[in-house]
Amino acid sequence: MSRGGSGGEESAYDLVVLGAGSAGYACALRASQLGLRVALVERDKIGGTCLHRGCIPTKAMLHAAEVADTARAASHVGVDLGTPRVDLGRVAAYRQGVVDRLYAGLTGLVTSRPIDVVTGEGRVVDAGTIAVGDRMLRGRHLLLATGSVVKTLPFVTLGRRVVTSDGALALKGVPERVVVLGGGVIGVEFASVFCSFGSQVTIVEALPRLVAAEDEAVSKALQRAFRQRRIGMVLGASVTAVTESADEVEVAVEGRESLRADLVLVAVGRGPAPVPGIETLGVAMAGAHVAVDGLGRTSVPGVYAAGDLVPGLQLAHRGFAQGIVVAEDIAGLTPAPVVDERVPRVTYCDPEIGSVGLTEAAARERYGEVETVEYNLAGNGKSQILGTKGFVKLVRAAGGPIVGVHLVGARMGEQIGEAQLLVDWEAFPEDVAPLLHAHPTQNEALGEAALALAGKPLHSHG
Ligand code: NAI
Repeated sequence: MSRGGSGGEESAYDLVVLGAGSAGYACALRASQLGLRVALVERDKIGGTCLHRGCIPTKAMLHAAEVADTARAASHVGVDLGTPRVDLGRVAAYRQGVVDRLYAGLTGLVTSRPIDVVTGEGRVVDAGTIAVGDRMLRGRHLLLATGSVVKTLPFVTLGRRVVTSDGALALKGVPERVVVLGGGVIGVEFASVFCSFGSQVTIVEALPRLVAAEDEAVSKALQRAFRQRRIGMVLGASVTAVTESADEVEVAVEGRESLRADLVLVAVGRGPAPVPGIETLGVAMAGAHVAVDGLGRTSVPGVYAAGDLVPGLQLAHRGFAQGIVVAEDIAGLTPAPVVDERVPRVTYCDPEIGSVGLTEAAARERYGEVETVEYNLAGNGKSQILGTKGFVKLVRAAGGPIVGVHLVGARMGEQIGEAQLLVDWEAFPEDVAPLLHAHPTQNEALGEAALALAGKPLHSHG
C-alpha cells in the first residue's frame, strides 16, 4: 500500500478509483484482472460501509439475535436451555472477529493484484486526476464510488441515546425501551435484533406500512409477525421532535401521545456521500446522486460513478455488479447493464424477507392483468420443523413469465438465488414447474408455488 502526500509525485493509470467500498474495490479487482493499471484511493478501510459498518456486522448481530431466540424457543422442541442472557460486549467481539477475518482476506486479495492502494482523502482535480495530499494520480478514467452516509432529520440531534445504525453497533448494553424511527430496511432489522435481545421496541413509520417498497402482502406478514413478537408499531405517523434528557428520550409523534425511550435509533434512509472536488467536473446530477447511464458513465467523458453514489437500490451486491460493469466497459468489453428490477433483495429481520422483480401492484401497473400465487409455508415440511410462518409469492404477467418473487419466513432469504434466476431468465411457470426441489427443504416452497402457478398444484389447493 502506498500513502498520499508523498511530495507532489505524479502517477499515470488507466483507472483511478475513488472509494474502496463494494463498488470501488470490485471495479479495481476486475480492472486489474483485465490488465488495466489501477489506483484505488481509500481514506479509511477497504471494504467500506458494507464490511465495516453495514451488511456484515449487522448480520452478525442478527445471527446472535437468532441464537437468543432459538435458545428461548428450545423448550418447544424438548431441549431446556434456560433464559438466554445477552452480553453485548461479547456479541461485539464475535462480530468484530467476523469483520476482521473478512477484512484480512479482502486486503490480501486486493494487495495480491497489481493495484496501487493509496491511503488518504482523495479529491477530484479534473476529469483525469484525483489528488491525495499533494500526490496527483492521473487516470485515463476515473470511477467515483464514495458510497453513502446515514441521513437524519433536521430536528434530530444525535447523542448518547439518539443514534444511527453506526451508534447502535457501539452500544455497551441492551437498552430497555427502544424507539426505532423509520420502518424501512435498517429499522426493521434493528427492531428485530433489539427485540430478540430483550428490549421493548416500538417502530414509528411515516408511511402506512413497514418496508413500504416491498409487496403489500410482505409488509402485512411482517407486521403480523412483529405484532406476535410484541414489537410496537406506529404506522402512518411522522416523528416531529426528539428530545434527549439525562435519563431518557422523548419522541413526539404527530397526532399521538409522545413515546419515551432509553434509546432512539434513527433509520430514515441513507444518502450519497460527498465527493470532494466534484464541482470542478460540472457533472450532471440526479438530485443529490451522480447521474449515470446503464454502464456507469457520467455526463463527463471518462468519468464513471457506481454504488450508493448513483440513483437506485443501495445494496452492496448491486455495487459489486456495477463496479464490474465499469471495469469491463473501460476495457472495451460489452457488459450488460445492471438492472435494478433484477437485483435480489434480502431484509434480514425475523421473519426474513427476500424479493426480486416487481411487486404485485407494480406488475399490475405495467401489465394490466397479472396472476399471482401465494404458497403458505404451513405446507412446507422444513418450515414446520423450524417453526416458521410465511409464504412464497410469485407474480406473473398474465400468460407470461414470472416477473416477481416475494419470500417471507425464517431463513427464506437463502432462497433468493433461485428466485433471481426465475425473474432474470424470464421463466415461465410451465417451464420451471417440473424442476425438482429436494425434500425436505424450504426451497420446495418455490417449487410448489411454481407448480400452482402452472395450474398443477401438488401440496396446495392452488
Ligand atoms: P429506508 O429508505 O429503507 O427506510 C427509511 C424509512 O424511514 C422510510 O420508510 C420512511 O418513510 C421513514 N421515515 C422517514 N422520515 C420519517 C419520520 N419523520 N417519521 C417516521 N418515519 C420516517 O432507509 P434505511 O432503512 O435507513 O436504509 C438505508 C439504505 O440501506 C436502504 O437503501 C437499504 O436498502 C440499505 N440497507 C440494506 C440492507 C439489506 O439489504 N439487508 C440492510 C440495511 C440497509
